[in-house]
Amino acid sequence: MDDIPVMEGMLYVKVFDSPVAHGKIVNLDFVAAEQMENIVKIFSYKDVPGENQIGGIIPDEPLLADHEVHFRGQPVLLIVAENEDAAEEACKRIKIEIDPLPVITDPREAFIQGKLLSPSRKFEMGDTKNAFSNCVHIFEGQAVSGGQEQLYLETQGAYAYPTEHDSVKIFSSTQGPTQVQRTVARVLGVGMNKVEVDVPRLGGGFGGKEDQASAWGAMAAMVAWKLKRPAKCIPHRMEDMRMTGKRNPYSSDYKIGFDADLKIMAYEAVFYQNGGAAADLSPAILERTLFHATNSYHIPHVMITAHSCKTNLPPNTAFRGFGGPQGMFVIESAIDHAAKALQVHKDTIQRKNMMDNGDEFPYGQIVTECQSKHCWDEVMERYEVGAAKKEIENFNQQNHFYKKGLSLMPVCFGISFTNTMMNQARALVHVYSDGTVAVSTGAVEMGQGVNSKMLQVAANCFGISHSKIKLETTNTTRVANTSPSAASSTADLNGKALLDACNQVKERLFAFIKTQLAANEDAVVDIKEEVVFINNEASAFNWKSLVQQAFMKRVNLSAKGHYATPVINFDKTTEKGHPFAYHVYGTALTMVTVDCIRGTYDIDAVKVVHDFGSSMNRAVDLGQCEGGIVQGIGWMTMEEVIYNDEGKLLSNALSTYKIPDIYAVPQILDIQFLNTDGNELAIFRSKAVGEPPLMYGIGAYFAIRNAVLAFNPSSPIGYDAPITPEKVLMALYPHTSK
Ligand code: MOS
Repeated sequence: MDDIPVMEGMLYVKVFDSPVAHGKIVNLDFVAAEQMENIVKIFSYKDVPGENQIGGIIPDEPLLADHEVHFRGQPVLLIVAENEDAAEEACKRIKIEIDPLPVITDPREAFIQGKLLSPSRKFEMGDTKNAFSNCVHIFEGQAVSGGQEQLYLETQGAYAYPTEHDSVKIFSSTQGPTQVQRTVARVLGVGMNKVEVDVPRLGGGFGGKEDQASAWGAMAAMVAWKLKRPAKCIPHRMEDMRMTGKRNPYSSDYKIGFDADLKIMAYEAVFYQNGGAAADLSPAILERTLFHATNSYHIPHVMITAHSCKTNLPPNTAFRGFGGPQGMFVIESAIDHAAKALQVHKDTIQRKNMMDNGDEFPYGQIVTECQSKHCWDEVMERYEVGAAKKEIENFNQQNHFYKKGLSLMPVCFGISFTNTMMNQARALVHVYSDGTVAVSTGAVEMGQGVNSKMLQVAANCFGISHSKIKLETTNTTRVANTSPSAASSTADLNGKALLDACNQVKERLFAFIKTQLAANEDAVVDIKEEVVFINNEASAFNWKSLVQQAFMKRVNLSAKGHYATPVINFDKTTEKGHPFAYHVYGTALTMVTVDCIRGTYDIDAVKVVHDFGSSMNRAVDLGQCEGGIVQGIGWMTMEEVIYNDEGKLLSNALSTYKIPDIYAVPQILDIQFLNTDGNELAIFRSKAVGEPPLMYGIGAYFAIRNAVLAFNPSSPIGYDAPITPEKVLMALYPHTSK
């Protein structure tokens, strides 16, 4: 946001948020605050010109609280000031009285009280009841995974100014420009055509700005539109952490059954998702949990139930993996539980039950181009896992206060928005008369490198240098009705749309040159390094002269591309279909050392074989893989979101919320590219890479847990992530910890 030059007369917008997690507003007095110097106006819900509603999937979230508050940090008023200091001062003069109502922070408690955000969902395959009656071993338990703060380097925010014809332009730090546009239009009560959203790039998103950027966009836009002045609304870090939602915590029950040969015959799980005070994206996240509940395993009889529970926390939301990691953690816990009880290595059970081509996912899609066993076996061999296990056993026998642990974590992640409708994209290409090119897509660059990939698509299609191409900002006036940059699908969807646009221009240019050179209809035209070839022979034309002459002959040098993923479908009434274009596979080996005096640990190594398909940009893909792994380790080990019983965020700053730094990065982080043919639905057969690697981080949890058990085999340690050093210490010395 702060890369954008602002206009003179810009107003500063500060949010006054609820100090209480649940209650009725009985008195709200901001008269004195509004009369202070340099305060222009204070907006309440009564000032919202259109609908006071920002809920995307379900309309259950007001922009500004009206009569009740449902979470601590819920926006109540907007203080509009000439400068930041004045807004801060005015904030202190606002008086709010709230009659408290009961606060729920636990999803199971919410479920018992019937507080659900959306209808519960159930995926079923086979007959678990009958299958369990034939099982030789059955294990049941609970698994809990915590929240995760997105902690994008750049906080949420928007800058807006009024434009002609009663319109408004918004610069937004959002993954979903169209979502901001739609929300602003609704809040202002105007058509979407009056709202322009522009996104140059973000300082990180990680899912936190897939939907939750909309509120900030609406706040800035409402002020700018009503007061006819530019306005900026950017929360400080602690405000952002307090007011916005995080990865959904889950509490889950599992039941897993095996035959005598350790084949998993049946699996049941019940997921209680902590959705927070409004639906936000939680119902969609819940769906992705169901899709990933069996991870890389083929299980013939499955019954998975999921509840999106309404609590008095800020609405939880997307975070890289989008419910997938939460689902995988539970099945990995169930298998680990069984392995410990049966005294076999977990990897024996994992490998034995790995899925293969022709198997059916619980949601009806058939497994194809499966690389699960391929990646797994490659890890076992390349990284000599057998020898590594022996070394760790020896080390643990020889050392008392240091223990090592190891784990294997397979990942199978579905690529596509689970909502089929969202799998579409458009792109706009202008070739200018001097041969330079401007590209607009719906893709938002947030550090993931999507612009590099878009540049490659255009350069490769036209056969020209990257230096001739400019990637424009993501803008709703140039490319409309975009899906958010999310679901790992941004490069695929926008890349395919861009390829369509570029091909249209290219075909016109090729037709033109054939006429120009009186070449045969079926002559083969090609452009390589900006030289035009006819039937593999260099012609007198280069890219620039071709474009110039085509323009003189009035050839259309612009095109709009469109792409909608073929094949995919899903029927929510039967919970069956083919929701994913393809799957991404891989396996990670994780090795750790736990300091059994202090409870601290080091991640010694994460070694991965990952299915990138045919990678179109190894540097970008490697970066995504490394970043995802470290972020996944953070979620599973050190990042602990803590609310107290009153719904107050205690881990509200970087002093109390620890994210991975360079010292937390594994000593060895080795990633092998499993080169496969990729998938034709992936752009240039280069598979989506944004989210899948995050789930390798789950391996760190189990490796640390194994090290704890090596020190204290009778430790009552459960399955409760994150496994912080504090929890490790308690688990090492359960009897002395009181
Ligand atoms: Mo991403 S978690 O699909 O915004």
